[in-house]
Amino acid sequence: MKVMGITAGRKGGNSEILLKEALSVCRENGAEVLMINLTDYKILHCTGCEACTSGFTKGVRVPCVLKDKDDKDRLTIKMLEMDAVIFSVPTYDLMPCSAYLAFAQRNLAYEVSFLQHVGAIEKKNRIAGIISVGGSTRSWQSMALEGMGATMFTTSFRVIDMMLAKRLNRPAQVLLRPEFLRRAHRLGENIVKALNTPIEDRKWLGDEDFGWCPVCHSNAIIKGEERWDGLRYDYECQVCGSGGTLEPDGKGGYKFVIAENGLERNRFLGNEEHLTEIGAGMAFFYEPENQKIVREQLEKYKAIQFPAL
Ligand SMILES: Cc1cc2nc3c(=O)[nH]c(=O)nc-3n(C[C@H](O)[C@H](O)[C@H](O)COP(=O)(O)O)c2cc1C
Repeated sequence: MKVMGITAGRKGGNSEILLKEALSVCRENGAEVLMINLTDYKILHCTGCEACTSGFTKGVRVPCVLKDKDDKDRLTIKMLEMDAVIFSVPTYDLMPCSAYLAFAQRNLAYEVSFLQHVGAIEKKNRIAGIISVGGSTRSWQSMALEGMGATMFTTSFRVIDMMLAKRLNRPAQVLLRPEFLRRAHRLGENIVKALNTPIEDRKWLGDEDFGWCPVCHSNAIIKGEERWDGLRYDYECQVCGSGGTLEPDGKGGYKFVIAENGLERNRFLGNEEHLTEIGAGMAFFYEPENQKIVREQLEKYKAIQFPAL
């Protein structure tokens, strides 16, 4: 078992301590363990050039244009050798901190299903555990676990457990909250348990009824809107994209019930339809008539200049 811990919090801070608690369980159970703090590395943010995605349709791997300019490549190659990764990240402005997001958004050049398809990396069913750490309660961390969960589909990590550590302001304040240390310990146990379970029998091991979405356990169900091809769900999970309805749960509240076709757009189960959508968008852009419009109007916008700093 190879397990890696990735954090982006302060040195000796709460995210790091919780991660160490979970990783220690993995090591005690025989896993080979690595841990990195992203703040120790140079990670440039994605430039949005889309060079990597241009290769997807042709079936060729186009490496990230930043590959040799920072540490992202070597960290990611290592990360993809793992059987499991535990991410432990502080919450800034309700969501995962930017050091983590910069790392995660560069994963597009390492889209796992594609890299496996072209034989660039070993085929594995990788799992993940997620820890979000903040100074407040869920209401001030409302997009923390959800933001982390949203970054998992590019690397096809299956999240088997997640936890939210709350009201931790100063570094190491978690040492005064043994319940969170215990929960991180259990997350480590769950990682070991999942790794020792046959892939087809692996399931969610986190807290029962955690989150509204029964598929990815996010707490973020939003009103559905018509999609590019006309499909519309009444409600959908903003993380995994599953669609359904809200129905009384018999206890005075509501539950999110997945529609019969509700998994069709689940981002974690496949993105063929999304690739088709992107393809249609590109085809529209490259239509000769539209290219003419863009060429003409772009000149106008290029000519508009404002002072910068
Ligand atoms: C820029 C910044 C923004 C923050 N925003 C939030 C927030 O929106 N919600 C929250 O619960 N905590 C917020 N915090 C508090 C941190 O999440 C908290 O201190 C956490 O324990 C830091 O983790 P660490 O010790 O691993 O670095 C913020 C901290 C900073 C520095």
